[in-house]
Amino acid sequence: MSQAVDEIKIGGIGASRKRVEDNRFIRGKGNYTDDIVLPGMLHMEILRSPLAHALIKSIDTSKAWDIPGVHLVLTGEMMATRNLAWMPTLSYDTQAVLATDKVRFQGQEVACVIADDPYIAKDACEAIVVDYEPLPAIVNPQQAVAADAPVIRDDKENQPDNVIYHWEVGDAAGTERAFAQADVVSKIQLHYPRSHPSPIECCGSIADFNRATSKLTVYMTTQAPHIIRAAVAMVAELPEHMIRIISPDIGGGFGNKVPVYPGYVCSILASILLERPVKWIEDKTGNLISTGFARDIYLDGELALRRDGKILGVRMHCDADHGAFFSDAQPSKFKIGLLHSAFAAYDIPAAHLTARGTYSNKAPGGVAYRCSFRVTEAMFFQERMMQAAADDLGLDQADFRRMNFVADDDFPHRTPFGFLTDSGQYAKCLDVGLRAIGYEEFRREQAEARARGRLLGLGISTMTEPLGAGNSREYDILGIKMFDSAELKVHMTGKAILRTGARTQGQGHETTWAQIVAHELGIPADDVVVEEGDTDTAPFGMGTYASRSTPVAGAAVAMVSRKIRAKARKLAAHLLEVSEEDVEWELGRFYVRSAPDRGVTIQECAIAAYANMPDGMEPGLENTAYYDPPNLTWPFAVYIVTVEVDPATGVWDVLKTVAVDDCGVRINPMIVEGQIMGGLTEAYAMSSMQFITFDAEGNCVGSNYMDYLLPTAWETPGFELHSEVVTPCPHHPIGAKGIGECAAVGGPAAFVNAVMDALSGTGVRNIDMPLLPDRVWEALTYHRDVAGAPPVRADD
Ligand code: CDP
Repeated sequence: MSQAVDEIKIGGIGASRKRVEDNRFIRGKGNYTDDIVLPGMLHMEILRSPLAHALIKSIDTSKAWDIPGVHLVLTGEMMATRNLAWMPTLSYDTQAVLATDKVRFQGQEVACVIADDPYIAKDACEAIVVDYEPLPAIVNPQQAVAADAPVIRDDKENQPDNVIYHWEVGDAAGTERAFAQADVVSKIQLHYPRSHPSPIECCGSIADFNRATSKLTVYMTTQAPHIIRAAVAMVAELPEHMIRIISPDIGGGFGNKVPVYPGYVCSILASILLERPVKWIEDKTGNLISTGFARDIYLDGELALRRDGKILGVRMHCDADHGAFFSDAQPSKFKIGLLHSAFAAYDIPAAHLTARGTYSNKAPGGVAYRCSFRVTEAMFFQERMMQAAADDLGLDQADFRRMNFVADDDFPHRTPFGFLTDSGQYAKCLDVGLRAIGYEEFRREQAEARARGRLLGLGISTMTEPLGAGNSREYDILGIKMFDSAELKVHMTGKAILRTGARTQGQGHETTWAQIVAHELGIPADDVVVEEGDTDTAPFGMGTYASRSTPVAGAAVAMVSRKIRAKARKLAAHLLEVSEEDVEWELGRFYVRSAPDRGVTIQECAIAAYANMPDGMEPGLENTAYYDPPNLTWPFAVYIVTVEVDPATGVWDVLKTVAVDDCGVRINPMIVEGQIMGGLTEAYAMSSMQFITFDAEGNCVGSNYMDYLLPTAWETPGFELHSEVVTPCPHHPIGAKGIGECAAVGGPAAFVNAVMDALSGTGVRNIDMPLLPDRVWEALTYHRDVAGAPPVRADD
């Protein structure tokens, strides 16, 4: 007699199943792009510009060609003959593949050499002589809009200056009225510095063009293989069905591996020209100076406040420095991503945001580094403003937030910028966080310490983030609608293979997707193999970034499992010799309603699909689901940090960090905790040490790991995580919300707010990140704000 299976035992939803992918990773058996060796493979290296802005007067490649072992030297001029010197970006701009007229940032790709090995290719790059005529460099938006600023994009028609766009959203008139009624207006200005996702594995590709079959296969480090296939088809004018993009194991992406980089394009062209596989593997400095930067945004905001603490309105302006090319990967409708998701957790009647994007002599920026298209900037700005406003009003930080939260019974809620949020228990999360940190006690301790000259501080960050772009009505990239997909094939023995359009880069999809199948079908998770990243086999999908996997691809996994269950029900009715209406489902088993002992397992249905299907039924047990989510998911989080600042040195130490994350139903609680810890580590790094900036000539300061610091376990503080608040997403098939980014998005403000709280009473309103000891010391000593925008100062 068959029985329902125990969901946790089979590794279903809620099981802290160990990550199946780790089995190969910890044995050193991962298969990364650089591990792949193809017969006859050549190697490509890129010559990069040493200058940030300069005319190219000439490029002499003759000495490079003379080096034995060199097969090809590519320059922009040669690319131009194939219409490949420039390529379209994901934000309707153009980007140089190899520079022809001038270089526009330090590290820009100028030429490529393809040789027998990478060392010969590197030597040959050094033999190329480029005659540059330096031009003044622009390293911030203020310089970009100055009357005498050189025009960086003089390659473009109708581009008389360095402004890319002006964009606005919200209700200008309503916000004006709110400010007219305000008792207090609280203002803040800050710079969210450039940061770099710096995944452990750099970018790379191996292009393999086979003239005999006309097939191009590219192994590459991409988070979005199907988008790349379409881009290659368009850019290289190759038929899409003859292009196969394979994204093997990826050593971290964090948004860095979404854009199309010149190295990919050059390796493809080189393989077509040479008819041999061509491998390009970027080095660490190349990755740090030339690939997808994040942030670099100047924020200027004010809150209209009633004396009792009610927020009446918010006004925000931002200047975004996009670098030399506007290549952000983000929904086409939104020029500055989802920056306008700011203040979604608060009940605010009126809001208005204006944004200006400018070019500069820096590598293209604006990638969504572990965030949904600029929500990191939005939440940082929001929580820095909330702290400043509570201080201005003389209100308690926690009370001020609580009194402005959207109430639990006020959902669905229209945010001040027009998003629709659907669920949350914000005050409850805050209460859990305050209890965990020991709020009242800490405030007492803080006052006592202050009396003895010790500086303690507590920072709160509360936020909701839009995850899971998105519904196809509002979200597209270059016109391609944002949905995702899953394909499930159940074999006759009840084992299965699942493929999705997402691409894991370390988040554990191979583990968690199988758990969703187990939850829906009762097939043990160990019996489901998950495959992603091969465009010849996986169904079309928009890829993994913006924590969209669980909200979109994860939902598709549930939906395709349900399609399989619907067919299995017909098979069960046939096997049980009853009508379908008389068949009931419990996990892993169908049974006869009137005789529950009579049942068949999902595995028995699987074999019947191949060996004993009813007359007229199509054989097999497989299906595909494309999922277009009705809305984004809105997880909520509270991060609270306590610190002690040393007034003599400006050094600050984290005393305690508490995180309360409500991401709806947790598929795998252990993986969720790993995501939160990783995010908090990045948040701590951004707030305390990460510093990639530029001097007045546009030289990148921080282009190696001596200068651009990644925290190790030694520096990283411990984190206390809380999971007791669970508000299922009402529209997601399994009630899950995204989680991958929350802590990296909401965390930085908690660390900064804690240090600023320690400095309260000194008159210091803001210190720009990273809060390096010398900046904190300067603020404390001179009682002044410390700005951190480039150009870097001589003493930094
Ligand atoms: O898109 P990405 O995979 O980066 O982010 P995500 O969808 O937030 O998921 C990150 C990891 O956490 C995945 O392995 C998810 O399956 C897992 N997760 C979970 O177990 N429960 C949730 N409610 C959300 C994510």
